[in-house]
Amino acid sequence: MSDKVHIFDTTLRDGEQVPGCQLNTEQKLVIAKALEEVGVDIIEAGFPVSSPGDFESVTALSKAIKDSSICALSRAVEKDIEVAAEAIKYAQRPRIHTGLGTSDLHIFTKLKSTREKVLERAVYAVKYAKRFVEDVEFYAEDAGRTDNEYLAQVVEAVIKAGATVVNIPDTTGFCLPEMYGEKIRFLKENVKGVDNAIISAHCHNDLGLATANAMAAVQNGARQIECTINGIGERAGNTALEEVVLVMKKHPSLNLDTRIDTTKLYPISQLVSTSMNMPIQPNKAIIGSNAFSHSSGIHQDGVIKNRENYEIIDPEEVGVKESLIVLTARSGRAALNFRLRKIGVDLPTEELDNIYQKFLEKADELSVIRDEELKELVAEYLKVV
Ligand code: KIV
Ligand code: ZN
Repeated sequence: MSDKVHIFDTTLRDGEQVPGCQLNTEQKLVIAKALEEVGVDIIEAGFPVSSPGDFESVTALSKAIKDSSICALSRAVEKDIEVAAEAIKYAQRPRIHTGLGTSDLHIFTKLKSTREKVLERAVYAVKYAKRFVEDVEFYAEDAGRTDNEYLAQVVEAVIKAGATVVNIPDTTGFCLPEMYGEKIRFLKENVKGVDNAIISAHCHNDLGLATANAMAAVQNGARQIECTINGIGERAGNTALEEVVLVMKKHPSLNLDTRIDTTKLYPISQLVSTSMNMPIQPNKAIIGSNAFSHSSGIHQDGVIKNRENYEIIDPEEVGVKESLIVLTARSGRAALNFRLRKIGVDLPTEELDNIYQKFLEKADELSVIRDEELKELVAEYLKVV
């Protein structure tokens, strides 16, 4: 029996706060419904105290979404918590996400406070949020750079105060996977009452380690991953939802499972990219335009013989129609033959050899040969022979 990992999507909060990615309520509703259909457990809908527009969107999502929990972010401030509670009051499964910085850097230079006062504020915020909802998640901002002993004290205190989930954000994307995994294990082994709450991983991608860190967390006992579609988010972004879900799916030996319907991943990725005007890098894992396209002759030959030679994911498994054999000057005869057959042209080996030379000349000139050019090439060739 595998353990369930809860997927907490923050595309509409951590993702949407990226400059240029702002959405109106209608657009957020479309994305939230798609997230619900994909099987996301918790949708972080926004930060209601931040603006009237965000408050309105969180309220609208609370009314419309039935299956996923709706979560609202707040600082550890009474007013924020009250506004968050108001915005999610219609939700079937409301959650308040409250917290503050716990690293010495945040405590001394940002909050201008002390460890003792921060711990008191953390406990107070959780208790205050509990007046409004049962499901309260606490975040220890910059937990990635927080001293583990102190972090354990905070986590223990907020769980005692009623936190149902405790988020351990690597806010600056600083941690190495071993460090982050070790931090989670330390909490699991040293916090009294730790099993009364779910430990959550929230990783940023400043060093390109967000997915690796989130995986290290679940391998050490975290049971919620906070992530975004396409990995969008502050600075270099957050853990990409599609990546962690596929890692768990492709490695059953981890014994970790999610509720995500992976066949809906590509469509939702396209929806988020177009709604937010945020192009996806072609080589992005799982959903990039090159993720299932093969261009070198050796790989093309291998894929044509057996897809699994060079693909660990069946494209249909993530909602992509098919793998692509891209014709370039690096392609071999097998790829040319494969693509010719796709346009209904079946040539004997000798003729294939002849047309292949013409193909190479054209590919050197054009770089990529599409079906149109391939048809022209065949027509020219047939005129000559
Ligand atoms: O990165 C972070 O620390 C956050 C918190 C507000 C959860 O996004
Ligand atoms: Zn974040």
